[in-house]
Amino acid sequence: MEMGLRNRVAIVAGASQGIGRATAEAFAAEGCRVAICARNAASLKAAAEAITKQHGVEVLDQAVDVTDASAVHGFVEAVINKFGSVDICVTNAGGPPAKGFMAASLEDWRKAVDANFLSAVYFAREVIPHMQRKHWGRIITITSITTKQPVADLVLSNAVRTSVVGLVKSLANEFGKDGILVNNVGPGFTATDRLKQLAKTRAQNSGQKEEEIFAGWAADAPLKRVGEPREVADAIVWLASERASYITGQTLLVDGGAYKGL
Ligand SMILES: NC(=O)c1ccc[n+]([C@@H]2O[C@H](COP(=O)([O-])OP(=O)(O)OC[C@H]3O[C@@H](n4cnc5c(N)ncnc54)[C@H](OP(=O)(O)O)[C@@H]3O)[C@@H](O)[C@H]2O)c1
Repeated sequence: MEMGLRNRVAIVAGASQGIGRATAEAFAAEGCRVAICARNAASLKAAAEAITKQHGVEVLDQAVDVTDASAVHGFVEAVINKFGSVDICVTNAGGPPAKGFMAASLEDWRKAVDANFLSAVYFAREVIPHMQRKHWGRIITITSITTKQPVADLVLSNAVRTSVVGLVKSLANEFGKDGILVNNVGPGFTATDRLKQLAKTRAQNSGQKEEEIFAGWAADAPLKRVGEPREVADAIVWLASERASYITGQTLLVDGGAYKGL
């Protein structure tokens, strides 16, 4: 399928590993110029070099903490200086820690809001004016299955992610007239370092083995396995492509069918 993405400029945040990295690779495979950020400069640089080597596209990497509005401003400015525009912006950051409600401190709540909600606001504020000028743009937020169905012991994610859905729908409504499509992608359990960390925490709390916890997640999905980062990335690339040109304001779960609702 021709995606129509060649030479588009795609920002992917939180892209040194996991779903963000797979997404940056998938855009590069479509011939996009890619700009990636994460906090750790060394692992980010390694990711950028690997993507350039594999796909032969230009990659801008900049160490940025997406909870810092001025750092996000500087990053988008660097993207414009290097590539001249920004067409696609995928917002992403690490997920909040697994905790029940009384175990979560007020600081945990503030951090979750900063990383998993306000970071999307910061990026949207920066990229929308550039997209308006071109009358073309795609903003895609990476959140979680928790936007549709709470997960046990992930109260921070369950509560904060839904605010992103409200933001996505509002932006889709306001900027559709400018050719900007805004959608949300919610991964289910996906095999990344984040998931290994989650399994470790659960194992410590429950006395179960990590393999048993993984097996339980796999069993919960009709496809009977956890997802691969590339499978989430492919859905994001499709949403950004010309093949999804009449889709905006939506949440697409990539969860192997784990969501139990209709
Ligand atoms: N994997 C799953 O099963 C799953 C399921 C549902 C939802 N999700 C959500 O999907 C998102 C991506 O998950 P993942 O599994 O790919 O996570 P991951 O393996 O932990 O990767 C997170 C990436 O984001 C970067 N990052 C974290 N905090 C950042 C910050 N403040 N500023 C800039 N970059 C930051 C990390 O690099 P640095 O540490 O160097 O900054 C890393 O590149 C998370 O929000 C996660 O909660 C994941």
